[in-house]
Amino acid sequence: MTQTPIPNPDPSQVLDDVLCSEQKRDGQNEETVDVASASLGSPGRVLSIDARVERAWAHWNKLGRPKYIVAPMVDNSELPFRLLCQKYGAQAAYTPMLHSRIFSETEKYRNQEFTTCKEDRPLFVQFCANDPDTLLEAAKRVEPYCDYVDINLGCPQRIARRGNYGAFLMDNLPLVKSLVEKLVQNLNVHVSCKIRIFPNIQDTLSYAKMLEDAGCSLLAVHGRTRDEKDGKKFRANWSAIKEVKNALRIPVLANGNVRCIEDVDDCIKETGVEGVLSAETLLENPAVFAGFRTAEWAKGSEEEEEFVDGGLDQGDLVVEYLKLCEKHPVPWRMIRSHVHKMLGDWFRVHPQVREELNAQNILTFEFLYGIVDQLKELGGRVPLYKKRKIDNTLKQQESPPPPKVQKTLES
Ligand SMILES: Cc1cc2nc3c(=O)[nH]c(=O)nc-3n(C[C@H](O)[C@H](O)[C@H](O)COP(=O)(O)O)c2cc1C
Repeated sequence: MTQTPIPNPDPSQVLDDVLCSEQKRDGQNEETVDVASASLGSPGRVLSIDARVERAWAHWNKLGRPKYIVAPMVDNSELPFRLLCQKYGAQAAYTPMLHSRIFSETEKYRNQEFTTCKEDRPLFVQFCANDPDTLLEAAKRVEPYCDYVDINLGCPQRIARRGNYGAFLMDNLPLVKSLVEKLVQNLNVHVSCKIRIFPNIQDTLSYAKMLEDAGCSLLAVHGRTRDEKDGKKFRANWSAIKEVKNALRIPVLANGNVRCIEDVDDCIKETGVEGVLSAETLLENPAVFAGFRTAEWAKGSEEEEEFVDGGLDQGDLVVEYLKLCEKHPVPWRMIRSHVHKMLGDWFRVHPQVREELNAQNILTFEFLYGIVDQLKELGGRVPLYKKRKIDNTLKQQESPPPPKVQKTLES
């Protein structure tokens, strides 16, 4: 079966495809691992289901049972962003989805789309595929640098329909089974899958059981169906995730509806899963796992009064992210995308600065640091909020209430 290549981007994107530091990449950053020359060990063995389940849990325990996990995001869960999220509480992360055929065939794609370093663990490397041999070839190249090779079975986009991968493999479960089995029988590293649910719970449960039986060591369940593409419109179905968790013996992760750290705790309590993946929320607020909330989620909550300026803002996070990019080069298009998402609230106050960024075809770090400085000087600071620690002694003395969360933007 063939896979459709990624279509050619428009000309402005071509400039953004260039790595933010070709020089460093050519000389190999000393801490960044050289993936292109990876060679691999012996194949995994065929084990009984009991032994496989035991092995899956031993692995999960060895990784420290991560609860807070960066979801896979094309062009967005790249190394510097994973490291930024890790600094603010993420305990594991997925790479963006990598196209297994292009990854096997093209060195430039490998070098640009997958970089890692020794701090970047636990790591799931995700591939899309529809051919077991091609998938194995790609997986073998990353096996030494990750804790799971993950198969993307959830992408609902048109490109996945055309390429026959992601959620469209839900129409061909024997093929899915053969993808999982091929990896399990030939890799030493553990194999995981990320799925969407079927509209019918019984179909979802049979699907999940099939993956477990095929040797999948960990299952991440996005609680939306293939047709529920818009995460803002459709709430993820946690009760379906709970049923999957109850039906399986391997570790299960949940995905969907996480806007703040309390949502993670609620999701784990409600579904019984081991951990939770977050995507869109992290893009705006990479510090969500450290308990920070954007104004949108601090102000809307019933406990609004408990939230105070956390002493951190998205401008600070952009600066930290850019520094990580200087150390671990990635294509400019990824950097551009993160700057837009993290500074979205600030750009709404000063749209002319966003226009300046849009007009800049060739980015530099100097220019981007300048954008943050400019926004700060213009008085567009938007804080991230944290829950105030309640001091019961003070409460008893009837001290005055804490300052209310600012609804308007602070200068
Ligand atoms: C920008 C972006 C890129 C994504 N890329 C991938 C991907 O490469 N692989 C994947 O399995 N899911 C991908 N997703 C889906 C997310 O991993 C996640 O399943 C979905 O956004 C629901 O989680 P959320 O409610 O926390 O956003 C992507 C989502 C976003 C927003």
